[in-house]
Amino acid sequence: MSVQAADIDLAKKSTLEKVIQSGELRVGTEAGYMPFEMTDKKGQVVGFDMDMCKEMAKAMGVKLTIINTAWDGIIPGLLSNKYDIIASGMTVNQERNLKVNFANPYIVVGQTALINKKWADEIKTYKDLNNPKYTITSKLGTTGEQAAKRMFPKAQYKSFEMEDQAMLEALNGKATATVYDLPMTSIFYAQRGKDADMKFLNEPFTYEPLGWAINKGDPDFLNWLNNFLVQMKNDGRYDRIYNKWFGS
Ligand code: ARG
Repeated sequence: MSVQAADIDLAKKSTLEKVIQSGELRVGTEAGYMPFEMTDKKGQVVGFDMDMCKEMAKAMGVKLTIINTAWDGIIPGLLSNKYDIIASGMTVNQERNLKVNFANPYIVVGQTALINKKWADEIKTYKDLNNPKYTITSKLGTTGEQAAKRMFPKAQYKSFEMEDQAMLEALNGKATATVYDLPMTSIFYAQRGKDADMKFLNEPFTYEPLGWAINKGDPDFLNWLNNFLVQMKNDGRYDRIYNKWFGS
């Protein structure tokens, strides 16, 4: 029995080894979450996550392949080995962490709200949103959706496949507000919300570390990623990429 268990252990390769052997790092993401991953004019997926993945592949000496996939299937895709890692602005939460491992967080964000101008005066803080006369939107399967339902149980809730649809619904007054991660609401506010006199409640009301997800039971890969991140954070690469996407 113990000999067999040891054999199985030796046979089990780290994703890291497979990536090196195949010469390719496959990253699963869902383009649509600014400025982490989005599609540019040429149809390429670009953003903060993607630039960090470029550094990751470079450090491994392999080529980077981005696999753009739907958000609701992103964890199943990792579990069924469609890609080696998820880099998709994913919040490390306890429910997801039961299914996957997360490398140490690379940034912390939180939920914020954008209010349509019709309700801008009466909604003073996010707490005011918990009222049956209001309709709140967010994106299906995200922590924005979870927060909206958990924190504003009395309000109506409407789910959307993509974050920009959820935001437009609040912009054009079909919904009272949209709830989503701070970096994206902030960009949407600057690009569209401000001119439409939306009210931006930009003080995050949840705590959300974002991290790269990998399959469980792979300490070698996890160790590599955590050390890679520490190195990037301290040698200027992280700051350069951060300033590119978050700098004004
Ligand atoms: N941080 C949020 C979550 O984990 C939203 C992430 C959405 N990411 C994306 N690439 N669409 O639920």
